[in-house]
Amino acid sequence: MAELRRTQKQISERYWSIIGRYLKLHPWRLARTLVSALAFFGGIAAVVLYQKYGREAFFNSGPLSRNHAMFANDCKQCHDADAGVPKDGAQLAASLKQRFHNGIDFAAIDRKCETCHERHSLHEPNVVENRSCSACHMEHQGPGPMRAVASFNCASCHNNSEVMEASAAKGAQMPRDAFHLRPHSPQQVVFELPRPPRGYTEVFESFWNDHPEFQLKREQTRDPDVLRFNHQRHLTGADIPQVNGKKLDCNYCHKPGIDGRFMERVTFAANCQACHSLQFDIKNPEMQLPHGDATAVRAYLHSLPTHYADLAVKKGIARPEQIQTFVAQQISQLRDQVRSGEELERRVFFTTDPYKPQLGVAGTRAAFYGCAFCHEVKPQTALVPAITKPVFVDRWMPQSPFNHAKHVGVKVTGVSETGLKCDDCHHATSSRETSDVLMPVKANCVACHSPQGKVVAECATCHKYHAPPQNVAMWEGSQRPGSSASRGAEAARTLKDVLLGSRLTATR
Ligand code: HEC
Ligand code: HEC
Ligand code: HEC
Ligand code: HEC
Ligand code: HEC
Ligand code: HEC
Ligand code: HEC
Ligand code: HEC
Ligand code: HEC
Ligand code: HEC
Repeated sequence: MAELRRTQKQISERYWSIIGRYLKLHPWRLARTLVSALAFFGGIAAVVLYQKYGREAFFNSGPLSRNHAMFANDCKQCHDADAGVPKDGAQLAASLKQRFHNGIDFAAIDRKCETCHERHSLHEPNVVENRSCSACHMEHQGPGPMRAVASFNCASCHNNSEVMEASAAKGAQMPRDAFHLRPHSPQQVVFELPRPPRGYTEVFESFWNDHPEFQLKREQTRDPDVLRFNHQRHLTGADIPQVNGKKLDCNYCHKPGIDGRFMERVTFAANCQACHSLQFDIKNPEMQLPHGDATAVRAYLHSLPTHYADLAVKKGIARPEQIQTFVAQQISQLRDQVRSGEELERRVFFTTDPYKPQLGVAGTRAAFYGCAFCHEVKPQTALVPAITKPVFVDRWMPQSPFNHAKHVGVKVTGVSETGLKCDDCHHATSSRETSDVLMPVKANCVACHSPQGKVVAECATCHKYHAPPQNVAMWEGSQRPGSSASRGAEAARTLKDVLLGSRLTATR
């Protein structure tokens, strides 16, 4: 189709006639211009005046959260005092450009956050691009507590394969010591598995979808402890006597700590001795060896006459010569049982094969079994035998602070109608080896922590984001009553050696 053309002249004439009309003064048009100008310059003046004299709250974009409400009249705690008031055109242009591309200038606010909340920028040392505090913690959202941190903030890295790939590469260049940022007191024995070669950089979206299976399970970890204990034998064995009129249950040995989050450590005195009472003389079941120190056991055996004399007194024998006779009789009948002092000591330390329980004898539950019944015992020339110390782990999953109090007995429709029981997660009743790690697998948790289970399953439900202060005393739950520091420290060291050993063999 041919175009309708006009000459340049025609076009310019048309424009001039329009402009001419505007150039002519007209009362209405004049009023409109004045009003616009007033609004424009008045607005700028108001901003400047309020900056100088107005109440800060005027600019507030919403009430501050409960924790920061005390700064409601002191905006500069978080906002630089002169930020936002450009001093010249260049600054205005720069600031507009910055806003246009990056939105609010979070970097400046982040620095302010960190003036009060120190060391909160660290999550993991191999993070490639940090997130702004305000991405996760939003201010000006209302006067209540700050909103819980949403999982998409975590997924912005954890579900981004490029970010995770780059983090794995960065992590590979860093020393091992840069990781594992969860300090604990020396009393606490924490099972920290070696960081995998690519770090914790699996890509996943949510807990119930592809969140990795827990490392303990994934790597088929074994418990390095050498104390012999068979859960199944004790929980289902027909010959296991009742204690306090009750069948053995989990709670007899595993008692919740003060806050109910974790269990107290098992001890020989509280949890084994009632049945395994370290008797060594079938005729005198009251005689019991001291526990927990091989040297003390040898000293006890070397002073048997004194201990039999004490027993005589307890039995009501008063006259010295009668006591002497009693002691002599007992030593002699004991010799009939074991032949010699050396033989007795050998049995005490090394018998794994039990003397048969004296079912007929009142007051006995079981006759003595050697220390080796429960322990790994090694002979040492010219010294008392070495007992390998048991290592009871206090925390198995340090990356996710669990809470028993929120789970035991919980009823959830379709999963635990009658209340959640220990064995639903731990399956101890079917475990026969100490080396079994009785920790739950992911499926145990997904049953509830998923849209189907209808229990919250945000990342922040189960994880901390900020590396805790690198200061042992401040780390929660670090003080365990009843365990001496040196003892725990030693246990922790033993465990470290064991784990280090397994790590070395694994990387060879
Ligand atoms: C505890 C820190 C904190 C305090 C105190 C605070 N703010 Fe904010 N403010 C923020 C953060 C963080 C943002 C970023 C946006 C967001 O998180 O919603 C923001 C954003 C803003 C914004 C919009 C974004 C912008 O920069 O253009 C305004 C306006 C604002 N604040 C005004 C105020 C005023 C006025 C006060 C004082 C009454 C104040 N704020 C006190 C943290 C704070
Ligand atoms: C002037 C000091 C100060 C500044 C600046 C500050 N805060 Fe706070 N913040 C506090 C105090 C005080 C609390 C109260 C809780 C506490 O005992 O730590 C708190 C609490 C919090 C909490 C815990 C909230 C909760 O519900 O448990 C978060 C998260 C937080 N601040 C994030 C921020 C962020 C993000 C910024 C920067 C935008 C910021 N804070 C700036 C002093 C400050
Ligand atoms: C800026 C990126 C980034 C964000 C955002 C992020 N993470 Fe991570 N996170 C990482 C990287 C990288 C690792 C891997 C560390 C390693 O290789 O040892 C990691 C590791 C972890 C680990 C396992 C490592 C350990 O020792 O504890 C947990 C748990 C975790 N993140 C939880 C979270 C949670 C919860 C959030 C959200 C509140 C979150 N992350 C947000 C980058 C991020
Ligand atoms: C007679 C005492 C006793 C009873 C009863 C008992 N346990 Fe244990 N439990 C122990 C001892 C000792 C250990 C430490 C030895 C070990 O590492 O296996 C242990 C360890 C554990 C561990 C730590 C993980 C591990 O692999 O070491 C869990 C979990 C556990 N028991 C769960 C249970 C549950 C669940 C029940 C009840 C069904 C139960 N226990 C009953 C003595 C007992
Ligand atoms: C309620 C009584 C009772 C308690 C409490 C008890 N046991 Fe036993 N235990 C028995 C009986 C009975 C046997 C079987 C004895 C036999 O086989 O001659 C046994 C057997 C054993 C065995 C050898 C059986 C095997 O197959 O492993 C070991 C080891 C053992 N117990 C360790 C412990 C430890 C460690 C504790 C404390 C954490 C403990 N027991 C607490 C009653 C108990
Ligand atoms: C029925 C099982 C059992 C028998 C038998 C037994 N122990 Fe133990 N032993 C334990 C348990 C459980 C622990 C760990 C809890 C504790 O220390 O109370 C332990 C801990 C120890 C410790 C480490 C204490 C520490 O300070 O960490 C030594 C040493 C020890 N036993 C020596 C002995 C000696 C010596 C004998 C023999 C006379 C013996 N045990 C017999 C169960 C047993
Ligand atoms: C919802 C699953 C769940 C239930 C139910 C549960 N636990 Fe646990 N339990 C765990 C998890 C997860 C850990 C690992 C926590 C850690 O050590 O970091 C654990 C750790 C343990 C430990 C070793 C660490 C410690 O606290 O000493 C023992 C022992 C234990 N549980 C016993 C029990 C007993 C006894 C019951 C029942 C009264 C029980 N658990 C119920 C999930 C569960
Ligand atoms: C119901 C509780 C729960 C939820 C929800 C959850 N996790 Fe975990 N997560 C765990 C436990 C338990 C472990 C194992 C901890 C350990 O072994 O110390 C774990 C391990 C991890 C690890 C280490 C993975 C590895 O390779 O071993 C990362 C990273 C992680 N979680 C990130 C996340 C992120 C991101 C989210 C949210 C999308 C999330 N988790 C949601 C319980 C949870
Ligand atoms: C029977 C259902 C059920 C199962 C199975 C279950 N949980 Fe939970 N869990 C809950 C409920 C209910 C809460 C409380 C939620 C709340 O406070 O809003 C909870 C809370 C939690 C919390 C937060 C604790 C706190 O201190 O606030 C963690 C962490 C957690 N669960 C981890 C786990 C892990 C790990 C597993 C698997 C070993 C698991 N849960 C299995 C029901 C369950
Ligand atoms: C990827 C999300 C994310 C980012 C980014 C983030 N936080 Fe947090 N923050 C969390 C989560 C989740 C919690 C809940 C408790 C925890 O994980 O330690 C939390 C808790 C807090 C708390 C209260 C508990 C405590 O540790 O005292 C403060 C204060 C806090 N954050 C400040 C900050 C500051 C300041 C920054 C910026 C330097 C920041 N956060 C950046 C996710 C984040």
